[in-house]
Amino acid sequence: MYIMAKKAKLCGPLFAFLFLFSLGYIAHADDPVTIFILGDSTVDVGTNNWLPESYCRADFSPNGVDLPYSVPTGRFSNGLNSADQIASLFGYQRSPPPFLYMINHPATFKRDILRGVNFASAGAGIFYETGQKQFIKVVPLSDQIQQFATVKGNLTELIGPVATANVLAKSLFIVSIGSNDLFEHVPPNSSTLVDHNDDVYITNLQFTYHGHLESLYKLGARKFGIMSIPPIGCCPKLRASSKKPGACREDLNKLAQSFFISLEDLLRKMSSKLVGMKYSLGNTYEMTMSIIEDPLAFGFKDVQSACCGSGKFNGELPCFFLLGPNLCANRHEFLFWDSYHPTEYASKLAALTLYGGGTRLVTPMNFSRLVATHVNITS
Ligand SMILES: *[C@@H]1O[C@H](CO)[C@@H](O)[C@H](O)[C@H]1NC(C)=O
Ligand SMILES: *[C@@H]1O[C@H](CO)[C@@H](O)[C@H](O)[C@H]1NC(C)=O
Ligand SMILES: *[C@@H]1O[C@H](CO)[C@@H](O)[C@H](O)[C@H]1NC(C)=O
Repeated sequence: MYIMAKKAKLCGPLFAFLFLFSLGYIAHADDPVTIFILGDSTVDVGTNNWLPESYCRADFSPNGVDLPYSVPTGRFSNGLNSADQIASLFGYQRSPPPFLYMINHPATFKRDILRGVNFASAGAGIFYETGQKQFIKVVPLSDQIQQFATVKGNLTELIGPVATANVLAKSLFIVSIGSNDLFEHVPPNSSTLVDHNDDVYITNLQFTYHGHLESLYKLGARKFGIMSIPPIGCCPKLRASSKKPGACREDLNKLAQSFFISLEDLLRKMSSKLVGMKYSLGNTYEMTMSIIEDPLAFGFKDVQSACCGSGKFNGELPCFFLLGPNLCANRHEFLFWDSYHPTEYASKLAALTLYGGGTRLVTPMNFSRLVATHVNITS
């Protein structure tokens, strides 16, 4: 802890945040799988806290209100997010720490590296430019992959190239990204009637995604747990701006659905070409829609407005204490925490489905099966 204390000045709530991480690592009896996480705010556990110039961050209250001591950690949630929930199903207390945290703590780096690393950065997209203008600074997916290459180098130094290849082939690579690329294509305040050239955009996006996944494969990744794009047109921010008051923005939802269809096709093709590549594709679109269509079945009372925020659907303004947001008391009854992100409870339901669900929602196999699958290391 003494090393951590020295750095605490960089970012207000950091000290307590580090304390949470140290609680988070209680070793599991039978060596849990190493988990690497890449993506955006859906799985960011504090990367952007280390980017002082970034406007896309959640290291302020009421974020984290349901974590021990109500400490904001950078997660866009009242508590844990999907990255944490999946990691916990594999035997951890929560997600591995952010890469930018780890490199600033070399003393614990070597101990932690075998459990995994989280590279995800809120606001980031598949395209390099996504989020850069609006948020000034994010870590785009290609840079996250570069950071993973560094980690691979560190692992190789630690245990040698053969053992590293073995560890990476068995590791779970969770990737959750794409929403921000769609938001750049259809800004929240744009008219729904514009012709957005959607097919071309999705094709280019998938072409770029393909390149990223192939880079990860070349670096040694074999098991990909991919989360698709949820019905982002139904999040409170978008409902608030919809032409038909309160309705989901169908243009964005259609894009999310096309994205899933082309991603499914891409992954099928990739895995038939790349020796040893295995994947699970989580249909987060359908998972979320099932909840929106039948909230009570899942224990939700409100699937339209944000728990924390203000304005229409409580989702027009961010969940930020300086803006005097409303904060709901019954967090587990809300699908949305803020204008864009799910509550801790909603992320938990998603993680349970990804981990152990049937092929309708996670295909061709669930994450637990993916991790149990044997992969031959041939090259
Ligand atoms: C990890 O590798 C990078 C690049 O080679 C190096 O700069 C860094 O010091 C290494 N970190 C540790 C903890 O070994
Ligand atoms: C939408 O918002 C952006 C930036 O927030 C602004 O530049 C643009 O003028 C807005 N467009 C409309 C149609 O209101
Ligand atoms: C995962 O999928 C398999 C095969 O579809 C199924 O038998 C199993 O019950 C699912 N859940 C878990 C936790 O393995």
